[in-house]
Amino acid sequence: MRRLICAGNWKMHKTAREAMGFVDAFLPLTGRIPDRVEVVLCPPFTAIAAVARGLNNQTRVQLGAQDMHWERSGAFTGAISGPMLSDLGVKYVIVGHSERREYFGETDETVRLKTAAALEDGLTPIVAVGETLATRESGKTLEHVVAQTRAALRGLSKDHIARIVMAYEPVWAIGTGRNCDPVEANAVMGGIRASVEGLADVPILYGGSVKAENIAEYTAQSDIDGGLVGGASLDPAVFAALCAAAS
Ligand code: PGA
Repeated sequence: MRRLICAGNWKMHKTAREAMGFVDAFLPLTGRIPDRVEVVLCPPFTAIAAVARGLNNQTRVQLGAQDMHWERSGAFTGAISGPMLSDLGVKYVIVGHSERREYFGETDETVRLKTAAALEDGLTPIVAVGETLATRESGKTLEHVVAQTRAALRGLSKDHIARIVMAYEPVWAIGTGRNCDPVEANAVMGGIRASVEGLADVPILYGGSVKAENIAEYTAQSDIDGGLVGGASLDPAVFAALCAAAS
């Protein structure tokens, strides 16, 4: 059975102090989340250390980051490397989120470099792919996400592919309240799974307006192994309810 993961992507929300408040409120609520559900929090860089302190070495909730650079160190003003994240106890890192692709010049090639670097640095990349509304309306969804997936994973060893997590996030569903139909999402995700050898056992998360009220419809599908959650991960009670509903 594949792992079931609920990852909260906080994006550019919460100061370190606010993040600590979240953790204090969230941890007592994790008792009602089934053991099967792996819970991941991805705070902004400036709040990672505070969240790590709040989590205090417990393993129920894992720490993730929202991006990283592919070099380990160097003259890259403003960037954060894999070893810097590992040092703080980070286990996961989102790579290729559509907001990075759209607003920060992320390309298939930088996604590939980051994915490989994360694996080399012992982090689990959550590799995000997804189509815009225009691509969807032109009937090219599968072609597009398969191309993104192949580009991101090109050149990786079998061992490395076995360690990744994929995320399918239709761009038009992110933050819009307009979630993708679970059956449709499942079909696309099956296509992603089949596009590269070794993805059969890799968790694939759905992202895009996931809520406590709809997560179970996704995880009930054959190729959906959890959620990558933005808005609904910002409130401790709301995110705990979502994680609890996933299994
Ligand atoms: P959303 O964001 O849940 O707010 O739609 C998902 C994401 O961007 O990862």
